[in-house]
Amino acid sequence: MSQSTMRLQSFDLASQDIASVDVEWLHGLSLGVEWPHRAADWDFLREVGHGFVALDEIGRIFSSAMWFPCGADCATIGMVITSPRVQTHGGGRWMMEVILRQCGERRLILNATRAAYSLYLSLGFVPQATVYQCQGYARPVMPGDAGAVETIPATGIPEVAALDAAAFGADRSALMARLAGVAEIRGLRRGGRLAAYAMRRPFGRGIVIGPVVAESEDEAVQLVAALLDGLDGQFVRVDTRQAGGVLRTFLHAAGLTLHDTVTTMTRGAPLPKVEPGAPGTYALAAHALS
Ligand SMILES: CC(C)(COP(=O)(O)OP(=O)(O)OC[C@H]1O[C@@H](n2cnc3c(N)ncnc32)[C@H](O)[C@@H]1OP(=O)(O)O)[C@@H](O)C(=O)NCCC(=O)NCCS
Repeated sequence: MSQSTMRLQSFDLASQDIASVDVEWLHGLSLGVEWPHRAADWDFLREVGHGFVALDEIGRIFSSAMWFPCGADCATIGMVITSPRVQTHGGGRWMMEVILRQCGERRLILNATRAAYSLYLSLGFVPQATVYQCQGYARPVMPGDAGAVETIPATGIPEVAALDAAAFGADRSALMARLAGVAEIRGLRRGGRLAAYAMRRPFGRGIVIGPVVAESEDEAVQLVAALLDGLDGQFVRVDTRQAGGVLRTFLHAAGLTLHDTVTTMTRGAPLPKVEPGAPGTYALAAHALS
């Protein structure tokens, strides 16, 4: 009887700029780990960030990792994926080391899945908060006080970006300007000054509402309610760090129930606190963007 031989898991991978690869390969990679991103979501992330992929000798993608600058001294990290068939062979750590070199001295923020948590801990990231991924098919809720909510046009982005920076702790004006191209934006004013803003845009299986920046949970609810208007029956997602309270109660009533959690981790500085009376982040732009 003849004997056959094989060698499994002997991949030589090389890194390549993520901007240079076909978006459908990236889409396949994220589908492989059951992430909901559409090809259009990858394209958006490539417009606002940097990253690389790991390819084998015949050009198959096995891994990805990205970082997103927030001004000169901060960045978020995301889209860290290793194809399931080559996981636990050191690829994730290798990619993160490349990304960390690219980020240099910037302070860093990321949202860790359970699979990646220990990897990030070992790289000096410190857990800060739980993110609650709330999603579902939106159902009608008692409308909030929509009277004061205004629509903010793309020309209003400098004001939005200034408010966002006060909550996020870093300048995201470039991201805000890009989001304005794909998002609807609502705001609340106090004494003429923009006190709260929220965005909604197509993402993944439907619509994501975020970021939401406000000075209180009630304001956050008001804006989310305004952005849910007209979305009955559509799939909507909100990622919030609110563990309970009126926002979570409202989301639940609107059909957006807890689907999963991730852990926000930072390196270099803690996450800004969310306290009533000061601008705080009540919903994330995306896991990758925080
Ligand atoms: C997280 C992920 C990128 C890790 O990639 P990987 O190529 O398997 O990572 P590595 O082989 O370099 O392993 C890194 C460390 O994590 C540990 N690890 C890997 N997978 C793990 C898992 N499922 N659960 C717990 N620990 C795990 C490894 O033991 C390793 O630790 P060590 O270096 O001390 O031995 C990969 O599991 C993945 O793509 N998961 C799905 C998408 C995801 O969750 N991405 C993270 C977004 S924040």
